Amino acid sequence: MIEERLGEDARVTILGHVQRGGSPSAFDRNLSTIMGAAAVESLLEETPEGETMVIGMRGNKVTRTPLSECLSRTKLVAEAIADHNYKEALRRRGGSFASAFQILRTLIRAAPHDPQPGQRRLRLAVMNAGAPAPGMNTAVRAAVRTAIDKGHKVLGIHHGFEGLIEDDIHEYDWMTVNGWAHRGGAELGTNRKVPSESDFYAIARNLDKHHIDGLLVVGGWSGYEAVLEIFRRRETFPAFGLPIVCLPATIDNDLPASELSIGADTALNSIVSAVDKIKQSAVASQRAFVVEVMGRYCGYLALMSAMATGAERVYIPEEGVTLHDLVEDVNQLIQGFSQGKRLGLVIRNENANETYSTSFMCALFEEEGGDLFDVRQAILGHIQQGGNPSPFDRIMATRLAVQCVDYLIAQIDKEEPESACIGQVNGRIGFTNLQDIPRLMNKRFSRPKQQWWLTLRPIARVLAQPGPNISQSS
Ligand code: F6P
Repeated sequence: MIEERLGEDARVTILGHVQRGGSPSAFDRNLSTIMGAAAVESLLEETPEGETMVIGMRGNKVTRTPLSECLSRTKLVAEAIADHNYKEALRRRGGSFASAFQILRTLIRAAPHDPQPGQRRLRLAVMNAGAPAPGMNTAVRAAVRTAIDKGHKVLGIHHGFEGLIEDDIHEYDWMTVNGWAHRGGAELGTNRKVPSESDFYAIARNLDKHHIDGLLVVGGWSGYEAVLEIFRRRETFPAFGLPIVCLPATIDNDLPASELSIGADTALNSIVSAVDKIKQSAVASQRAFVVEVMGRYCGYLALMSAMATGAERVYIPEEGVTLHDLVEDVNQLIQGFSQGKRLGLVIRNENANETYSTSFMCALFEEEGGDLFDVRQAILGHIQQGGNPSPFDRIMATRLAVQCVDYLIAQIDKEEPESACIGQVNGRIGFTNLQDIPRLMNKRFSRPKQQWWLTLRPIARVLAQPGPNISQSS
């Protein structure tokens, strides 16, 4: 018995049906919205003779697969399990399932390897850069443990590029990152420092001093900018020839070469749970709310939270705001409330328009609403940067970090090592070379030139329409 041998207590907790209940996460709400819309489209296109299809999502793309194919693949997994052929069951379950299983086994087992015979013990450094994003700790933990597991040394650089300049660099061991998987914030520290002028000499000196062979930067836009500045100077500073890999982590989801950043899912959940409460307050007293969310010049958080909360209007910087829009919205609110609507909800990105600010919109709606309805504003602020990472962010942070470590190790052995950003593109996780990153960036607005989620706007618009019976928006 474990209890007798180690003096440890053991208890069983069966979670049971709480697992089926609760308020759906932002991800689940939007997933079902997008798939529901795709199912209707599919029904309208299919003929009665056509095969029955299953709507799914791979990456961020809707898929249609024949039901018969889905069933036979599922049966194959069940058969392998029934035959106790677990290796085959894992294989049939798909590549990412098997790799997630392997990663989990590595991360929870405190048995780091020594280097293999003939293997050099590399010195890999990991740091955060940019604003804090939930999931940064999860990524750092996964990177540290994976590298140690493979027999290498890991150095933690504290406080972003400031720490790299100031030599705030420390050796990490297996237990340094204990308990980091679920912890919000950024234990390593982070900031938006982008190095300039003499900073580059200090960075080169410290990379040399600590014999750093490869660098992982977990961060947001300014982290990417900082890495590009270093990469551009690799002819001038030989120390900058090391491979560098960037892992996207920002609540804004505004990074090139990645459809999703770590932290955005957690931020969306924070927004959704705040807005759910705001709606309860609004419906109690005939009110419209203008809720301002973060995102800088990227409307991802605004659009996705609007879809997930049933907002009737969303303002994003990609579309801007015109006076005509505001007049239309006022009229819609007046018409709705006069027909018995009980609450109004508008979500606005913080930079949707400089002039038509959140307080301007509130004042306008309040004035025009007269006695029909009240208007209040809610600026959600930094609750969006905090919180423990969501399961989705933890899993994604772990998968990306493990692949980043593998990438660095593979590059270090090459004569001309490359540097890259990891990210999910077209549903697949891959690496984009650093030299290709600048042309994917919209520098003026600090966001990618292409943003896949903009294609969701028509669904959001349809769902926000008042419809024939507007007694309550939802
Ligand atoms: O980049 C993340 C972010 O939270 C933005 O959405 C927001 O505009 C900004 O950081 C807030 O900056 P700070 O935390 O420095 O006030």
